[in-house]
Amino acid sequence: PDERAALKAEIKALLKARDAVLVAHYYVDSELQDLAEETGGCVSDSLEMARFGRESKQQNLVVAGVRFMGETSKILNPEKRVFMPDLDATCSLDLGCPSEEFNAFCDQHPDRTVVVYANTSAAVKARADWMVTSSIALDIVGHLHAQGQKLIWAPDRHLGQYIQKQTGADMLLWQGSCLVHDEFKAEELKMLKAQHPQAMVLVHPESPADVVALADVVGSTTQLIKATQTPGVDTYIVATDNGILHKMRQFAPGKTLIEAPTAGNSATCKSCAHCPWMAMNGLKNLRDVLKTGFDTGLGEVHVDSALGKQAYRCIDRMLDFAK
Ligand code: 13P
Ligand code: SF4
Repeated sequence: PDERAALKAEIKALLKARDAVLVAHYYVDSELQDLAEETGGCVSDSLEMARFGRESKQQNLVVAGVRFMGETSKILNPEKRVFMPDLDATCSLDLGCPSEEFNAFCDQHPDRTVVVYANTSAAVKARADWMVTSSIALDIVGHLHAQGQKLIWAPDRHLGQYIQKQTGADMLLWQGSCLVHDEFKAEELKMLKAQHPQAMVLVHPESPADVVALADVVGSTTQLIKATQTPGVDTYIVATDNGILHKMRQFAPGKTLIEAPTAGNSATCKSCAHCPWMAMNGLKNLRDVLKTGFDTGLGEVHVDSALGKQAYRCIDRMLDFAK
């Protein structure tokens, strides 16, 4: 405990000395989430992370999350230096959508507007007309559909299918998935619901359609956290990465939170719903990056500047829409 306290104190001092602010996702380690808040940074979903990075007055950003989040920050803030505790923290959605194949797919459908999820590489964003996050995907696709536009959607097929169903939009879906949310199981969830008939079921839309169908609330991480304050509801079954439980406990103290079942959610594995790449963010590598990265480049995010300019357009469009 003393060692951790010393590490945290060191990180706080380094953030100040480096004129850096810490931006963390709800899925990262609770100690990092708390540090971000205690030091004037933010803990949030993908949309707010992008917005916060752009509005922060500090010269440098440290992004505790996964690669696409660091890249989005760099693309939005090319004049700032952006660091991550571990540059190898990727995402199965990003990995499952290589830019060459994605470009070929788009080339086959030149009449379609290209909408990509935030969980993609800078190269994929450079090809897109719009970037969306789960907080705003329904609104943007609804808007494009109302204008009569036909869409390409990538890479998450479950989120795409959910949005298609909600909006009626004509969407060609890339077949990617999130390795965490793909593991939630509908049959087991039904059984859990039967044991807790009063519980409200909260589901992130990266989950399979049969799991989404059992939800009382479907939404982004921020939207699910807000739902835990529903008056009169004391118990929630949560189908998303369990890193979110930390903020839910702070936001709705005293409520009962139950993790939704996954394939590996058995007596031997009680916390399978946790992203292995989000878990790569820790106090030690955060400290190391702050201590040496500014001189050695350790943990620094680089995006080719021409690619970054191209990718900027679709992110900026989303932020403008979200205003
Ligand atoms: P949001 O926080 O935007 O809902 O995204 C979830 C996610 O998959 C991040 O990895
Ligand atoms: Fe990607 Fe899923 Fe991890 Fe989010 S939780 S970063 S979507 S693999």
